[in-house]
Amino acid sequence: MKESRPTQKVFVPLNQDTTVLDEAVQGLPYQISPSEAAPISNRPKKTAFIETYGCAMNFSDTEIIASVLRADGYEFTNDENLADLVLLNTCAIRDNAEEKVWNRLKSLRKVKKSRPGSLVGVMGCMAERLKETLLEKEKLVDLIVGPDSYRDIPNLVAEAETGQKAVNVFLSKDETYDGISPIRLNSNGITAFITITRGCDNMCSFCVVPFTRGRERSRDWKSIVKEAEELVADGYKEVTLLGQNVDSYDFEDCTFAQLLEKVALVSPDLRVRFSTSHPKDITDEVLFVIAKYPNICKNIHLPVQSGSSRILDLMRRGYTREWYLNKINRINEIIPGCGLSTDIITGFCSETEEDHAATMSLIPLVEYHTAYMFFYSERPGTLAARKYADDIPEALKRSRLAEVIALQNSLQKERNNNLAGKVYSILIEGLSRKSELDFCGRNDKNQMVIFPAKEGLKAGMYVNVRIKEATSMTLKGEIVK
Ligand code: 5AD
Ligand code: SF4
Repeated sequence: MKESRPTQKVFVPLNQDTTVLDEAVQGLPYQISPSEAAPISNRPKKTAFIETYGCAMNFSDTEIIASVLRADGYEFTNDENLADLVLLNTCAIRDNAEEKVWNRLKSLRKVKKSRPGSLVGVMGCMAERLKETLLEKEKLVDLIVGPDSYRDIPNLVAEAETGQKAVNVFLSKDETYDGISPIRLNSNGITAFITITRGCDNMCSFCVVPFTRGRERSRDWKSIVKEAEELVADGYKEVTLLGQNVDSYDFEDCTFAQLLEKVALVSPDLRVRFSTSHPKDITDEVLFVIAKYPNICKNIHLPVQSGSSRILDLMRRGYTREWYLNKINRINEIIPGCGLSTDIITGFCSETEEDHAATMSLIPLVEYHTAYMFFYSERPGTLAARKYADDIPEALKRSRLAEVIALQNSLQKERNNNLAGKVYSILIEGLSRKSELDFCGRNDKNQMVIFPAKEGLKAGMYVNVRIKEATSMTLKGEIVK
């Protein structure tokens, strides 16, 4: 993969720092667009640069951080060399996610030297996981701010400006950043994230998120609906409701199904997506709401993690292979043709050839539209790290991952090839990155579709597109009446 620095926003499903299939997303940090950058000739006193790593939740958090900074008088730049404050909003889900940040911090040494007085901050999950030890390993870091402490950034910056190291990694039971209007950096003006829950109580044995993001809490549904209404008023056409486990949303007895319905009712023109669902918690009630409203996208991200019930038990996922497959049947019954995607981990502790074969056999049974696949990366402090041996050699983890990817890829290609002739309603997101003569947009299954642009049409409009050809990742088509 070539290294590049896009300024373009890409949809990253919740918690994925890399998608093995989607090169557009893989490993690419996200920066503020030039339109947000301060003009060089007339630069204000305080200028911030923020780079985001990891999942959609982090991208959404960056919009909160930007809002806190703007209220404190900051303007934004997309050039780290011009910034008084350089912030990296980080991910800790796998070792390689952290490795990227360590490397980036090294590259910032030169920047800091050339701009005396500038500050470097590490925000988010890696800040929370490593706390002060981060300062020992990388001396250039001035601020460490965990995911629940973004309101405190102005105080922490003031402290760091006096030459002290400033740290706030307090995890809150109730912080939902209600009342902070996200600044939608680099937004295409069409699609937006709305965070509905923070934290996670599930404690899957492999996962560091409950430690880095703390206890689960739900945001007031009234402020969620208000945010959706404001987005509609601003011309947005699609929202994605975000949470580590959206199905456990619960605010004053409002369930996720009820919340989804309230957001769907904001406007029939507003597409509603959500991520991530948990197989053990998604209810029929949710499925019926999805089926009922045409503007709720018929697409569910339902991470399976493994096809083996023995491994699922060790992972503490709270369901078996049979339960998961029954859930898939139920989804197909209530929402025929529903798009499905998943997360899969290969090489978890003690995984045998038989367990791996169970994962391989589950994939074609479900017929996923897309999948995010990883090999197991032990995370310090998790139950798996404390209780189980990380006993699958990396080469084997990787070769099993390669098999899973190859299988999913070939099934995806086959499935997409069969879509020729099908007509989808596409929300135009803008010009295709590869050609200014083409538009790009997604169908409600979240598949990217490229088609020739037409005069009179623009981003934010819905068009019907007939599919002509496909690769495993992208569909190509043409507009029909
Ligand atoms: N190693 C590999 N993959 C992991 N994930 C979470 N923790 C780990 C880990 N320790 C994957 C899971 C999860 C997705 C967000 O990241 O598949 O669903
Ligand atoms: Fe991690 Fe499991 Fe929570 Fe997802 S549901 S964030 S995998 S602990």
